[in-house]
Amino acid sequence: MNFEKSEFLYEGKAKRIFSVVGDSGKVWLEFKDDLTAFNAEKKGSFKDKGVINRNIASLIFNYLQQFQVPHHWVADIGEREMVVNKVNIIPLEVVVRNVLAGSTAKKFAFEEGTLLEKPLVEFFYKKDELGDPFVSDDQALMLKVASSQQQLNQLKAMALEINQYLIQLFDKASLKLVDFKLEFGVAADKKVLLADEITPDSCRLWDKETNEKMDKDRFRRGLGNIRESYQGVLERLRSVLN
Ligand code: TMP
Ligand code: ASP
Repeated sequence: MNFEKSEFLYEGKAKRIFSVVGDSGKVWLEFKDDLTAFNAEKKGSFKDKGVINRNIASLIFNYLQQFQVPHHWVADIGEREMVVNKVNIIPLEVVVRNVLAGSTAKKFAFEEGTLLEKPLVEFFYKKDELGDPFVSDDQALMLKVASSQQQLNQLKAMALEINQYLIQLFDKASLKLVDFKLEFGVAADKKVLLADEITPDSCRLWDKETNEKMDKDRFRRGLGNIRESYQGVLERLRSVLN
């Protein structure tokens, strides 16, 4: 299929969004080289970050396709762009944790690296002005960010199913999937689709043997070798998927 980029719609922290000529049901995503942390208080970038992340995101959407996970990816364009089905993003960050790290480890004073007996799903309200706070199911319903408890249950079920597929994939790539964040959107036909991206920006990935961090925590925590780590994740995924 031939797609043509149309007007600029929106710029986020890591992507620019454009419309698609003659197809109002699709949007064009350009992955930038920028990276931010702590609600954009810390800003950085590295060469080809957008290229690496576009490639990782596309590999993962295509991997999930075989399990009939509904997602927004349609086609890759050039080096750092993709066309996706347009959705209304549900303003919830759906976080799944297999191992405690980051904000929840801190909140409950758990040692980072504590293995959970079963995966934990948490919702955070996507609202930059508020710093994306944690929300309970009832709070999400009060805020009307989800249409019903049934929809919240569906998001949790989809996230847990995706978690099982991703654990298997990353395990083959010698990576431990510590935690990750998903976003979902509602398409024109009302179907809920996995949207946004799954990349080292949105996951914690530790080397299976050494526990070395290979994700955005290298940037958040000033650990260096960010590009090498993202590139390493891409190469490992390529080696198990091709
Ligand atoms: P957290 O431990 O800081 O709550 O992060 C949980 C997971 O969600 C981690 O894999 C990083 C990812 N994440 C995002 O993708 N975007 C965000 O804005 C935040 C805070 C976390
Ligand atoms: N994505 C968020 C930000 O830019 C937070 C994070 O990933 O740490 O600022």
